Amino acid sequence: MISKCLAFLMATTAVLARTPEGFEPASLTDLIVEYRGFAPRNGVVVARDVTIPQPRLATVARLNGTSYAVLMIDLDIPTDNPPATNTLLHWMQTGLAPATVPTQLNTTTGAIRAFLLENSTNTAPIVAYFGPNPPARIPLSHRYTQILVDTSNITTEGTEILRSAAATLRGFNAQEVLTEAELVDKVVAGNFYNVTNPGPATSPSATAGAGTVTPTGSGTAASGSATSDVVTAAGVERKPGTALVGGIVAVGAVMFAL
Ligand SMILES: *[C@@H]1O[C@H](CO)[C@@H](O)[C@H](O)[C@H]1NC(C)=O
Ligand SMILES: *[C@@H]1O[C@H](CO)[C@@H](O)[C@H](O)[C@H]1NC(C)=O
Ligand SMILES: *[C@@H]1O[C@H](CO)[C@@H](O)[C@H](O)[C@H]1NC(C)=O
Ligand SMILES: *[C@@H]1O[C@H](CO)[C@@H](O)[C@H](O)[C@H]1NC(C)=O
Ligand SMILES: *[C@@H]1O[C@H](CO)[C@@H](O)[C@H](O)[C@H]1NC(C)=O
Repeated sequence: MISKCLAFLMATTAVLARTPEGFEPASLTDLIVEYRGFAPRNGVVVARDVTIPQPRLATVARLNGTSYAVLMIDLDIPTDNPPATNTLLHWMQTGLAPATVPTQLNTTTGAIRAFLLENSTNTAPIVAYFGPNPPARIPLSHRYTQILVDTSNITTEGTEILRSAAATLRGFNAQEVLTEAELVDKVVAGNFYNVTNPGPATSPSATAGAGTVTPTGSGTAASGSATSDVVTAAGVERKPGTALVGGIVAVGAVMFAL
């Protein structure tokens, strides 16, 4: 009886995780990731265009730490050896602090009163946000997970570990990096969504240009250019992206700051 209850509890816990099944470190608490009125969660499919600008982050309950970090990771990047996949770090920002008063976030799935995580000290990102852009390769669907880590007591060494791990975007292993930085038990909230390339997928050997996706939406892409992540044997190449901004096609070469 007791073991049945335990099994049920464990199963329920697994279902309630806000991070993707199998992803560690997992979280049972919602991280709200809001893109101008969209707050995709629980793995829902979201249009790539929605996810171009840097999102706002919030939690329903106010967090009591002084400093938080967000990590966003693509768990499904293609490799030259399908169906094997790899991971790609899309965002690492430290120095976020919970707002003292809640904000009403109006989203397509209803209004949420939540406490924003604010970059009140204007801390430069370790990896600046760059949005999803799954290439037309297997797998066409990618899961993007975001986790919020309490870094209130981070050590200088811990910060250094985050920085050096983030220097390599591809193959980023959150469990390993956070364990090394002594932060693996400090994940306080999580989320994930799914962005899918309409396809069809090109053959695994075709890399050049395979990742370019032209946005078809109304062009809310104020933050400009998008990148696509093309994995070659040599590593990840960031291709110039194309974004529709107010009817003008802007082609930009993308640089990223570390
Ligand atoms: C902060 O919140 C966490 C999680 O709810 C709790 O375990 C901890 O005791 C709180 N710490 C303080 C200083 O209130
Ligand atoms: C959200 O909706 C409420 C009521 O519907 C409105 O008062 C508020 O101004 C809206 N906030 C934003 C940021 O649009
Ligand atoms: C925090 O501030 C830095 C420097 O102004 C900026 O580059 C970064 O985008 C900000 N991050 C967030 C999450 O607002
Ligand atoms: C993402 O959503 C698509 C469309 O519903 C689905 O076919 C696919 O399995 C999902 N991918 C992942 C990795 O969850
Ligand atoms: C940080 O240290 C303070 C003081 O020792 C402690 O109360 C708090 O729980 C710690 N927070 C985390 C996230 O480790």
